Amino acid sequence: MNYRHAFHAGNFADCMKHALLVWLLRALMRKPAPLFVLDTHAGCGRYDLSSGPAERTGEWRAGIARLLDGPPEALADYVGEVQAQGLYPGSPALIRALLRDDDRLACCELHPEDCAALKIEFGRDAQVAVHRRDAWETLGALLPPAQKRGLILIDPPYEDPAEFSRLAAGLRTGVSRFRTGVFAAWYPIKHRAPVRAFHTALAESGIRDVVAAELWLREPLDAARLNGCGLAVINPPFGFEQAAPPILQALLNRLGNHEPGEGISMVRLVDE
Ligand SMILES: C[S@@+](CC[C@H](N)C(=O)[O-])C[C@H]1O[C@@H](n2cnc3c(N)ncnc32)[C@H](O)[C@@H]1O
Repeated sequence: MNYRHAFHAGNFADCMKHALLVWLLRALMRKPAPLFVLDTHAGCGRYDLSSGPAERTGEWRAGIARLLDGPPEALADYVGEVQAQGLYPGSPALIRALLRDDDRLACCELHPEDCAALKIEFGRDAQVAVHRRDAWETLGALLPPAQKRGLILIDPPYEDPAEFSRLAAGLRTGVSRFRTGVFAAWYPIKHRAPVRAFHTALAESGIRDVVAAELWLREPLDAARLNGCGLAVINPPFGFEQAAPPILQALLNRLGNHEPGEGISMVRLVDE
């Protein structure tokens, strides 16, 4: 396990994932019934952007740093949550900040140091469980939740080319265990071929009601660069397909560098 999220925290891809995550959670919280949130690849919870790995790569300077000053309406909720936190929040801290009293969060993280940091952060928190456990296994083991309503965030590191296939298989397992759950799976867009194959795998999986939101900073032609990213959402809450494009466009307006081929898209991969 070489991937450490601390090098990438706050970059454009993190902003895209977290801005849509906040919208999805708010949408699920329109109903009062308690929610279960599973963060399968949690990272370490919080990141100091001004020192260590984040400072060395500086990726956040082209990401969250460009959103903090007078964020556009579509990003105001997400950016407000980040600003309210002090230390830059990863997905577990962001999710935790939104939970209501009866909601629960389970975080899984395999890396020993990152998992230890999560245990320090949430060790005394009765609403949060931290597991040092394989993400793919938890999609079977922790679902379905007692709460019957929930969101599963799947955010693998994609160190290995097989990660897209593992993701498609993991989504099949998760949905077979928890048919009504909202599943949000982040993926990198380096070049188009793996993304097309992943979309095809989802379309042929038998899973219903799947959409994909994408953002590219440039034409995805260079397989060695993170040119864009996407979030595949299964069972999207009502209004997601209308709400996501303005969020993506607001991100592109601030984070794009006017490179050829930049853009956003919202596509439906499988009907309800
Ligand atoms: C992209 S980072 C997660 C970032 C986090 N979701 C956020 O938004 O702040 C991916 C994380 O998954 C962890 N990881 C990799 N393989 C895993 C596995 N099979 N099970 C659980 N965690 C894993 C890595 O150690 C890394 O911290």
